[in-house]
Amino acid sequence: MLHIIQITDFHLFADPQETLKGVNTLNSLSAVVRDCRRRYPAPDLVLVTGDVSHDGSAASYQQCGGILADLAAPVMFLPGNHDVVSVMQQEFPSGRISNERCQQLNGWNIIMLNTAMHGEEGGFLVVDELAFLDEMLQNWPNYPALVALHHPPVVVGSRWLDAIGLVNVEEFFDVLDRHPQVRGVIFGHIHQVFEMQRKGVHLMGTPSTCIQFMPNEGDFAQDHQKPGYRHLTLHVNGEIETGVARIA
Ligand SMILES: [Fe+2]
Repeated sequence: MLHIIQITDFHLFADPQETLKGVNTLNSLSAVVRDCRRRYPAPDLVLVTGDVSHDGSAASYQQCGGILADLAAPVMFLPGNHDVVSVMQQEFPSGRISNERCQQLNGWNIIMLNTAMHGEEGGFLVVDELAFLDEMLQNWPNYPALVALHHPPVVVGSRWLDAIGLVNVEEFFDVLDRHPQVRGVIFGHIHQVFEMQRKGVHLMGTPSTCIQFMPNEGDFAQDHQKPGYRHLTLHVNGEIETGVARIA
């Protein structure tokens, strides 16, 4: 069994006082991490699925390290559209935060993908990234797999968000469909809960640690639900139990 916490879309700034739509994103991340520690004191792994930084600054990544250390678990991460990949890879790993992009843990294969396109809000899996996914799945055919990426590989029902999702969805699912051991796909970017099944694969979107987006809107609209995160229990038989928690 593998206990995972997914936290996503922190949108931190170089200046710790700065806010996004009235929310201090650093304080909001701290509150989420406190809640998570209280309810889930001993996860095996924490997955950070992008938009750690809002401004791409070295300082924003450095501030985050100390807060995540409180989760007392190894951390794997991937970039979102607001992250600057080179800065993130250099500044973010510290303590138990690692640059590792694929790990086998408690019978599961965890794979982190990069869908960030510099300067674009939408996401794309370049040829090398698709090949990496294919290779990691080929290498461990008998391990159920959880694949993580920032951009949703499906429409979520909000026109403005669906215009900035993953562009080459078909190529992504072409790879997944060759590997029936893939059981789950998790993503960020949409700042709301989303769950659906596709060919036996559980697709999961997760609230942000800061502001929330209103579901099923044509244009951007802010939802006043609380910041949150996702917990997952991955069973060795490939079963996934999951849910979302929000701060009080
Ligand atoms: Fe994003």
